Amino acid sequence: MDINQFLSDRSRLMKASEIRELLKWITEDVISLGGGMPDPSSFPTKEIIEITRDVLSTKPDRALQYGATGGVAELKEEIVRFMGKEGIKIEGPENIIITVGSQEALDIIGRLFINPGDYIITESPTYLAAIQAFRIYGPKIVGVPMDNDGIRIDVLEDTIKKLSGDGKVKFIYVIPTGQNPTGITMSMERRKALLEIASRYDLLVIEDDPYGYIYFGDGTPPDRLKAMDTEGRVIYLSTFSKIAAPGLRLGWVAASKEIIRWFELAKQSIDLHTSTLNQYIAAELLKRGVIERNIPKIKEIYRTKRDLMLQALGEYMPEGVTWTRPSAGMFIWLSAPEKVDTGEMLSIAIKKYRVAYVPGKSFYPNGERHNDMRLNFTYPTPQQIFEGIRRLALAIKEYLSLVS
Ligand SMILES: Cc1ncc(COP(=O)(O)O)c(C=O)c1O
Repeated sequence: MDINQFLSDRSRLMKASEIRELLKWITEDVISLGGGMPDPSSFPTKEIIEITRDVLSTKPDRALQYGATGGVAELKEEIVRFMGKEGIKIEGPENIIITVGSQEALDIIGRLFINPGDYIITESPTYLAAIQAFRIYGPKIVGVPMDNDGIRIDVLEDTIKKLSGDGKVKFIYVIPTGQNPTGITMSMERRKALLEIASRYDLLVIEDDPYGYIYFGDGTPPDRLKAMDTEGRVIYLSTFSKIAAPGLRLGWVAASKEIIRWFELAKQSIDLHTSTLNQYIAAELLKRGVIERNIPKIKEIYRTKRDLMLQALGEYMPEGVTWTRPSAGMFIWLSAPEKVDTGEMLSIAIKKYRVAYVPGKSFYPNGERHNDMRLNFTYPTPQQIFEGIRRLALAIKEYLSLVS
């Protein structure tokens, strides 16, 4: 039977992620710097066991029952408090919806706001799974380049001006802190300028913030866009995946009440609501201070591992290779000389040198560069980080000698 005859036009817009394709190649002896997983030692496992037992013995009728589409009220209240401590003042629980990770929120954003042919703007490169989530809805995705301070505001404004004559620009999607894939944190100046431009051209801003709470750079992180949003145009996304555990599949959106009502309408037909049991567990993780106590520990683990990867890169990489120095997030973005095609190089890296990474090309909405790669420093052990970078440098040197 030919399944293709049954597939919708929408299905044809889906592409298997290169990260998933990669998994097939990976055997035990390959050091993977390609994933995007937290360090499992950062999970508050003992506390989750205790809390799950408590929740199930004190409120089984609520925790195991269907719940409201918007989410469990106690959890939303805890999130409002949690965000408040970070300087993000949200009016109340009506401004929050609980989602199945931030990934579900990205899909809902596509449903709610994108008509085929609409323009949307992202940083370039940007989070691969956001490109995939949006692409299903048929937008024209326009990437705006970044430098070490984040999205290039001059290019952003030129781009919006050019596109505005040609159709509707709906939103700008950014990951301002510890960006995936580059690790770059947008400067305060750029954040202000971004909001000013969004206001001038009347655009929505999607602020995807999985990493802001675990900023491990020196000093304090720049303010969230949501904290500076006086016009209700920022839709803020965050998640329990990096501050507790991704297996909980819990994220949240903070936005104006009107926008949240639209999210609820969309979510109702997707999955009715997020797991009630997991929401009660997360509410307790916040209420009992487990997350607050866990955050400094996570920061310490990630800072140490980042430093180790930076040290190994400095020690082993050949001339002409550059990389970012992230203050947040889980990734270092490495740029090899122009003549390196990191997609093509991957098979040498895996087959001969037993090391994996994610080629950079698919993080560019318009695929404009081929010589970058994303390296994850949170999941591999310290030994794997050092040995992985040593092997990667050998692979780059060999590839360079082949193409020179
Ligand atoms: C920028 C960004 N957005 C969203 C997500 C999705 O996270 P989750 O669905 O686990 O909340 C991730 C995960 O790595 C991410 O890096």
